[in-house]
Amino acid sequence: MPRRFSAMLLALLVPPLTTAHAREAKEYDSDVVYDENKIPHYDLPPLLVTAEGEQITTPEAWHQVRRPQILSLFSNLVYGRVPQPASPIRTTYEVVNTDEEFMQGKATRKDVRIRFRNEQGEAEMLILVFVPNGVERPVPVFMKHSFNNTRSDDFTAHPDRPGYIRNGWPLGEFFDRGYAFVAVYQQDLVRHNEVSFDRGIHPLFHPSGQSFPKAHEWGVLSTVAWGGMRALDYLGTDDDVDEARVAIMGHSKMGKAALWTAAQDQRFALAVSAQSGCAGAALWRRRSGETLEKMVTRFPYWLCRNAWKFVNQEDDLPVDQHMLLALIAPRPVYVASGVEDTWADPRGEYLSAYHASEVYRLLGKQGLNSEESPPAGDAQLEDEVGYHVREGGHSVELYDWQRFLDFADRHLRD
Ligand code: GCU
Repeated sequence: MPRRFSAMLLALLVPPLTTAHAREAKEYDSDVVYDENKIPHYDLPPLLVTAEGEQITTPEAWHQVRRPQILSLFSNLVYGRVPQPASPIRTTYEVVNTDEEFMQGKATRKDVRIRFRNEQGEAEMLILVFVPNGVERPVPVFMKHSFNNTRSDDFTAHPDRPGYIRNGWPLGEFFDRGYAFVAVYQQDLVRHNEVSFDRGIHPLFHPSGQSFPKAHEWGVLSTVAWGGMRALDYLGTDDDVDEARVAIMGHSKMGKAALWTAAQDQRFALAVSAQSGCAGAALWRRRSGETLEKMVTRFPYWLCRNAWKFVNQEDDLPVDQHMLLALIAPRPVYVASGVEDTWADPRGEYLSAYHASEVYRLLGKQGLNSEESPPAGDAQLEDEVGYHVREGGHSVELYDWQRFLDFADRHLRD
C-alpha cells in the first residue's frame, strides 16, 4: 500500500470489530449519529443538471449525456473502474454437476464452473443454477450475490418447511413461483476485504510489477459486480433461463454490490437492495449510522482509493447514492430496510429511492411520491421504485423474500 494511504489509514484507525454486526458497531462507536435531529443540513447533487450546468429535460438527454456522466463519477471516485486486462481473457463454461431431482424433483440444480484465462493467469467462479421443473422454460431468474460459498453443501433445511429454506435461500418460494435461482459467491474472485494482485482475478488484469490498484481502479465491490456480470454472460448460453428477465439481489455488503452491478450493466432487468446501507442505498450526506469514515476504516478496500478522499468531506462528492439508484432507471429497483437496522440508515435508504424517482418519472415510469417513509410492513410494490421497511434488524427474512418476489411478479412476469 502506498505510504500516504497507510498513514491516512492509521490516522483513521480504530480497533477492529470482531464481527460485522450493527449492534456491536453501535455499542462500540459512541460518535455514530442515529438521531434524526442531528442530521446535518445537506444539498444533494442534482440528478437532472449536467456537469456543464444544462438542465436535462428528455429521456434521450438522460441516456446520452447525464447517465454516462454519473456512471463515470461512480466508477472513478466511488467503486473503482475495471481496468483493461493485461491480455485478452478467454472464458469457458462447464456444467460440472447436474441434479434433476433436486429438492424431491422440484428443480434441476446445475453447478457451473466459469473459468477465466489469459497470459497472466487464471481464475474461476462456481455458480449454482437452480431451475424449477415442470414449468415452461425459459424462466425468469433471481441472481444473488451471495455470502455462502457455492462449493459448500452445508444446506440446512428449515425445520417447519423441510427443504424450503436452504442456505439462507428460500428456494421453494422461487420454484413455486416459477423462478430460477442463481447463486454467485462473493469471494470467488476477490477476498472479503483485500485487493491483492497475486490472487483471485487481479493477476489477469494488471501488468506484472503493479501490486496495488491505482486510486481509480476497482475495489472489492467492483470486483464482485464484475463477477455478477460474468455469471449473466453464462446465463445467456443456458436455454433454461431467460437472460432478459434476470433480477440481481444482495443483502448488506452484497446489496451494495447488487446495486452497482445493475447500475453498470443494463442487461439486468431488476435490482433488489436488502439493507445495503452505506455505499448502497443510503445517502452519504446524512452521515447517519455507518459513514464513509467508518467504512474505509474497517473495510479500506471495498471502495476505490479515491473514495477515501471524501472522508468527512461528503458534501464535496459530486454524487450521492440516489444517483446510483437512478442509474438503474427505467428498470425496476426495490429497496428494503429494517427498523432496527439503524447502522444501514433506513431513512437514508428511503430518501435515496424517493429522490431517484425523479429520473423514473422523466423516463415515463412511476416511483415514490411521498418524502415520508411508509410505516413498517407497508410495502410499496406498485411502481418501478419499490420500498419496504419492516420491523426487526439486519437480516433477510421470509417476509422480505416474498415482497421481492411480489415485486418481480409485477414487473418481470410479462
Ligand atoms: C458491516 C458494514 C456494512 C455491511 C455489513 C454486512 O456492518 O459496516 O457496511 O453492510 O457489514 O455486509 O453485513
